[in-house]
Amino acid sequence: MENATPGFRLVLAPLHGVTGLAFRKAYFASFRGFDACVAPFILAAKVKTSGQKHLRELEPERQARLPLVPQLLGDDAEAFVATAAALAGSGYREVNWNLGCPYPMVTKKGRGAGLLPHPDRVDRFLDEVVPRLGTSLSVKVRLGLGSPDEILELMPVLARYPLVSVTIHARLGIQMYRGAVDLDGFARAAESCPHPVAYNGDLRDEAAFDALRARFPSVREWMVGRWALYDPFLPARLKRLAPDPDPSATLRTFHDDLYALYREALSGPGHVLSKMKEAWTYFGRSLACPARALEALARAKGFADYEAAAGAALADGYRGSPAPAARGR
Ligand SMILES: Cc1cc2nc3c(=O)[nH]c(=O)nc-3n(C[C@H](O)[C@H](O)[C@H](O)COP(=O)(O)O)c2cc1C
Repeated sequence: MENATPGFRLVLAPLHGVTGLAFRKAYFASFRGFDACVAPFILAAKVKTSGQKHLRELEPERQARLPLVPQLLGDDAEAFVATAAALAGSGYREVNWNLGCPYPMVTKKGRGAGLLPHPDRVDRFLDEVVPRLGTSLSVKVRLGLGSPDEILELMPVLARYPLVSVTIHARLGIQMYRGAVDLDGFARAAESCPHPVAYNGDLRDEAAFDALRARFPSVREWMVGRWALYDPFLPARLKRLAPDPDPSATLRTFHDDLYALYREALSGPGHVLSKMKEAWTYFGRSLACPARALEALARAKGFADYEAAAGAALADGYRGSPAPAARGR
């Protein structure tokens, strides 16, 4: 088992709109290193859930071979229990509760990171939900919505419930995805957490990973998001796996699989190309092609146009880990 060796687990972070079913299938068919994946959030919905499209994305028989944990967003206990029950019925043993989504239209409704300043509401929610869940529960949090003190107030509440893990994205909600991660804030939060803690945030290369592992030796689970999409060979390097003998060919296979899966799942060039262009904003950074090749791709209108631009960009192959100057989002 290549992934069981180093004594830690690597988990692909959920990226809503990006790491959906098609993406996961293509990605995990080509790239190694991850042990598991958390799916992008679905809304915990009270209405009859069985026929809903967002649950179809999670049908177990359609998934890649990697263990997948569905994630739910919401503050309504009834809805959460109902949606988790539908997922348990499909065979899922764990669901993850999103306490990190930073978008104001979510936080203003008291969902996602909007719950972080309200330990009392989190307590009421967990008190109602936990005894009725047919699955185990993990949570993904930030250090707070506006202050890293929020997580310290919240931790005693989380400590009262049997959570399988707490993944901490070491930023505040108001930072969105920008600005430095707060490692001191993470250290304080992790120390006060009695559950297994997973680290998340800007784990961008081997040097960052080595430094984090040295500073937080008790952390056994590491979640990587954007940086594993910018350079899909990063997870294998973090795991010290043997290098891919032909990374350029692997990137091409990944691209072709993803394109085929989107063409199968979506109707019309508009939808397919917009998903592909979004994916290119990530893995395009790991290609050696000049910036103008990516610009041509972003302008492509129909399938033929797109295929010519993609072929040209892929022809230059993998360039290795993106240069630090090109980073940041
Ligand atoms: C486009 C985008 C969509 C995201 N969607 C989700 C989501 O559905 N659920 C979630 O918990 N976090 C979501 N996140 C946050 C990531 O899972 C992760 O916490 C964040 O990107 C920091 O990790 P990274 O620096 O390794 O990317 C999203 C981030 C981005 C950039």
